[in-house]
Amino acid sequence: MKKLLDVITRTMEEAFEKFGYEKSYARVTVSNRPDLCEFQCNGAMALAKKEKKAPIEIAGQLADALSDSMYFEEVSAVKPGFLNLKLAKRFLADYLRQMSQGASDGHYGCEHVEKPMTIMIDYGGPNVAKPLHVGHLRSAVIGESVKRMGIFMGNTMIGDVHMGDWGLQMGLIIAELKNRKPDLPYFISGFSGEYPKEPPFTISELEEIYPTASKKSKEDEQFKEKAMQATLDLQNGNKGYRALWNHIIRVSVDDLKKNYKKLNVSFELWKGESDAQHYIPEMVRRMKEEGYAYVSDGALVVDVMEETDTKEIPPCMILKSDGASLYNTTDLATIVQRMESYHPSEIIYVVDKRQELYFTQVFRCARKTGLVWDDTKLYFLGFGTMNGKDGKPFKTRDGGVMRLETLLSDIETQMYAKIVANQNENQVMDEAEARTAAAKIALAAVKYGDLSNQASKDYVFDVERFTSFEGNTGPYILYSIVRIKSILNKYVQAGRELAGLAVGEAGSESEKALQLELAKFNGVIEGAFAELAPHRLCAYVYDLSNALNHFYHETKILAETDVTKQNSHIALLELTRGVLESCIDVLGFSAPDRM
Ligand code: ARG
Repeated sequence: MKKLLDVITRTMEEAFEKFGYEKSYARVTVSNRPDLCEFQCNGAMALAKKEKKAPIEIAGQLADALSDSMYFEEVSAVKPGFLNLKLAKRFLADYLRQMSQGASDGHYGCEHVEKPMTIMIDYGGPNVAKPLHVGHLRSAVIGESVKRMGIFMGNTMIGDVHMGDWGLQMGLIIAELKNRKPDLPYFISGFSGEYPKEPPFTISELEEIYPTASKKSKEDEQFKEKAMQATLDLQNGNKGYRALWNHIIRVSVDDLKKNYKKLNVSFELWKGESDAQHYIPEMVRRMKEEGYAYVSDGALVVDVMEETDTKEIPPCMILKSDGASLYNTTDLATIVQRMESYHPSEIIYVVDKRQELYFTQVFRCARKTGLVWDDTKLYFLGFGTMNGKDGKPFKTRDGGVMRLETLLSDIETQMYAKIVANQNENQVMDEAEARTAAAKIALAAVKYGDLSNQASKDYVFDVERFTSFEGNTGPYILYSIVRIKSILNKYVQAGRELAGLAVGEAGSESEKALQLELAKFNGVIEGAFAELAPHRLCAYVYDLSNALNHFYHETKILAETDVTKQNSHIALLELTRGVLESCIDVLGFSAPDRM
């Protein structure tokens, strides 16, 4: 379906052309004075200078020309030369009826882009053997939502978790295990048998081993040496270490998958830094041969400064002086791998904004050395820090790093208690239903709390505010959906049918306001994806929920005796439910049936 604004802008253009005015002036926007009108066109003012006429004269001409338009119920010229517009109720109802016809695939008239693209999105970025902590929350939540928006618009989106699975943390674990269990076959040099299928540790052991080893390496120089040597040996193909590494990866990935599943986050690719290593030698060879890479202070670097830079951008380091590869090398090699395997038009990185300079270097280096095509877009979607109420990075009460798992389950427990406390004779849930609902509400609270902020900004993770059923929160959005579901349920229980009902012309201000909000849907999704801005979609679901609740409070629905009116109201509620549920699905959470 055409976007509502495009439809009415087209009509406005026709009116402009009728008088020989240039149509580029005919842009219609949503009114910034909703008390006066719904849409406005300010073109007459700009046009007046060119035409050497009074703006109000032009606006008057246009208003006259549009007075019998099927699209508007009111077009008024207002001094100095505004055109104030109110949409015709019949046209609006027709538009919504057309949207309802697109209910089956959840698209409600939002069309796919004309030229779908293959877009890769690098998000999540967990580090193997370290538990997910809240710092990884933002990347997962924002990335998942951006990916879903892209899919909704018809693109092929490939999400890659890009695990940190190749660095010193692997060597630390191996060195510590060797200390603890030196008899394991992985440590016997020249071992020729088959390594055991079962891992020599569980995830909880692994998660204990890593921090212990990490702490030890800071206090014990000799141990640190061993860990570094183990890292190098692993990277050079030591068979036993490789086998052990495979166990570490498998055990970690299983656990990560479980955690991401709880977050309703999933990845098309489970690649890691290790997968890119294979591409490094050839990449480095070419960079040297083509004269991009040169040795500076022993290290191999590529200059990435550009003439227009106002501040210093340091060269991109490709290899350390000891020949070892680093984070940059891996990210560049990953670009080679991605281009080779998927030829994406665009790669989006959802990473902490403190890594922005680093990515500027990587992107410039990739472009300069021809790792990507000229028209391949590399986009850094940097996010801010999640702070506690004290304004400092979010921590547990005792100052430790809060594990993501703990954070979610704590909120789930709170929500469960709230549901149980809210039970009354009209609503009794069994344990299973209450637990499922609590999990959904907790997830909505956390995800919406994050996504409703512009990604690049820091924000305060305020559990109390995020879990409130009122205000601009996830639970409030769910509550609005549940409210509709409950009405529709009662309607059906009374023996009526939902199928075949159609939205009619609005009979009140609040009804029209709700209809207008619904009609913005396709434009909002398109705009939010174009800007990679889930917060725009959040703002929309909030406005839509408010419009719904306003309408609900002012309108008799189940008690309405005029059947035509009631049918139309029910159809409107059903459409609102559908649009809200499509939106939250794109945001990455879902609503329970009751709460
Ligand atoms: N593992 C990294 C971290 O924890 C994030 C990875 C981001 N993605 C990338 N392609 N560098 O900081």
